Amino acid sequence: MIHLVKVNGGNIYDILSLNVEESQKSFVSDNKTSLAEAYAAVTGGGHVFPFGIYDDDTPVGFVMIGFGTDEYWEDHPGVAEDNYNIWRFMIDFRYQNKGFGRAAMKLILDFVRTYPCGKADKCWISYEPENTVAEKLYSSFGFEPNGETDGNEIVAVLNL
Ligand SMILES: CC(C)(COP(=O)(O)OP(=O)(O)OC[C@H]1O[C@@H](n2cnc3c(N)ncnc32)[C@H](O)[C@@H]1OP(=O)(O)O)[C@@H](O)C(=O)NCCC(=O)NCCS
Repeated sequence: MIHLVKVNGGNIYDILSLNVEESQKSFVSDNKTSLAEAYAAVTGGGHVFPFGIYDDDTPVGFVMIGFGTDEYWEDHPGVAEDNYNIWRFMIDFRYQNKGFGRAAMKLILDFVRTYPCGKADKCWISYEPENTVAEKLYSSFGFEPNGETDGNEIVAVLNL
């Protein structure tokens, strides 16, 4: 069964071993980069929740949830202020298209709705315009583009 496990000293190498297909590498940073960014967010006074996505004992993916902005993120979308963000989300290439991404998204939104950084109105996510699998998955959960972009990526927002 799919569940989320906080990234910690015991499982960090599980998470670092997970990769997407070569053709998907422009869609998501590698997990090493994401965890370095998580560290920098914390040292910058920000909030971040990195989780491994596990199917029973098997690591199958990674997600990193953020909240708000920090002083170093100057060109952030407006919706980032005081709202939750699914900052990184990936399922390893060996485990894609088996329903794990959809099952994980339910758990991710359950976690966001515990409001670990306090109540907020929105959760947002961004994706490359060519990433039609991500776009359809997110829209099926109610995320809708709000007209903003984050770099090249389309910003989509869910009312919590
Ligand atoms: C996007 C991603 C997280 C989805 O996870 P997943 O486990 O593959 O998704 P699921 O198996 O739960 O499938 C979700 C839906 O996408 C569809 N789907 C998944 N992979 C697909 C593929 N390669 N081609 C077409 N459709 C696909 C499924 O059919 C399913 O549709 P349905 O629920 O409407 O029937 C995963 O593919 C991934 O990590 N991709 C690379 C990195 C990435 O793009 N991350 C997101 C950055 S914004």
